[in-house]
Amino acid sequence: MKIVATVAELREARRAWRGEAASIGFAPTMGNLHAGHLGLFDVLRRAGADRLVASIFVNPIQFGANEDLASYPRTFDADCAQLTAAGADLLFAPAVGEIYPPGGAPEARIDMVPLSSELCGAFRPVHFPGVLTVVAKLFHMVGPDIAAFGEKDYQQLVMIRRMVESLNFPVRVVAAPTMRDADGLALSSRNRYLTPPQRAIAAGLHRALVAACLGIGRGRPLAEIEAETEARLRREGFEVDYVAVRAAHDLSRPGEAERELVVLGAVRLGQTRLIDNERAMRP
Ligand code: PAJ
Repeated sequence: MKIVATVAELREARRAWRGEAASIGFAPTMGNLHAGHLGLFDVLRRAGADRLVASIFVNPIQFGANEDLASYPRTFDADCAQLTAAGADLLFAPAVGEIYPPGGAPEARIDMVPLSSELCGAFRPVHFPGVLTVVAKLFHMVGPDIAAFGEKDYQQLVMIRRMVESLNFPVRVVAAPTMRDADGLALSSRNRYLTPPQRAIAAGLHRALVAACLGIGRGRPLAEIEAETEARLRREGFEVDYVAVRAAHDLSRPGEAERELVVLGAVRLGQTRLIDNERAMRP
């Protein structure tokens, strides 16, 4: 695997593939890789990618002032070993100064109204504009044909799909299924912040979302299911940011005729914020 840190080197490495008519697959990450990240490569290969590019960049502008930017786990050597084993061809791992001007954010940014201030965006106002802006920049730098994102971050996936559509990026977005621990907890770099008692509680988030999906399948009113799921999570020891049932394709509030739904939940255990989601079908 070739490792590059500058846009100039990245473009040079890309140029070498241009003559081969290869299809370029891209998986952007913030590092601290686990099986969930590596699953992105399986999806890219199945989608027909001949070359696999990963990026590792802990993107400062998607973290709020009180969030975990400084403590976000950085495990570069172990990440490189995993990427090599997974068959990645090229890793782009830039320093912050390669992506942003000194001391801050770029002048031009991408926002999406109203979705960037809904659901997780209501609790993390700078998050989605920061994600969309860096993903747009990475797409311009890497020039992928196919890019993979995990269903674990469902709102992020939907927003990137819609950005690509709205702004005509020549990129096909593919989704990777959520990888979980044996007890159902979605793999996340942030799980390492959990104490053993918190880790025991954490698996209850996925169980509660699965139970909500069963209720939806039986045709129960969505508002009741949201309230019940929230109450269940609080009883189990979570602080709840939100539980919401939305249309799976665009996260709008579902009308009566909308059958393909998703239940999204965001909770906190101490300082650690966990998110998860499950798809549901209304009868
Ligand atoms: P990061 O949290 O490192 O995640 C990188 C990619 O891996 C995302 O597409 C995410 O949805 C996916 N992923 C993480 N955990 C997963 C799991 N358990 N199962 C399946 N996929 C999983 O998401 C980001 O980074 C950033 O916001 C980024 C898109 C790189 C922009 O900075």
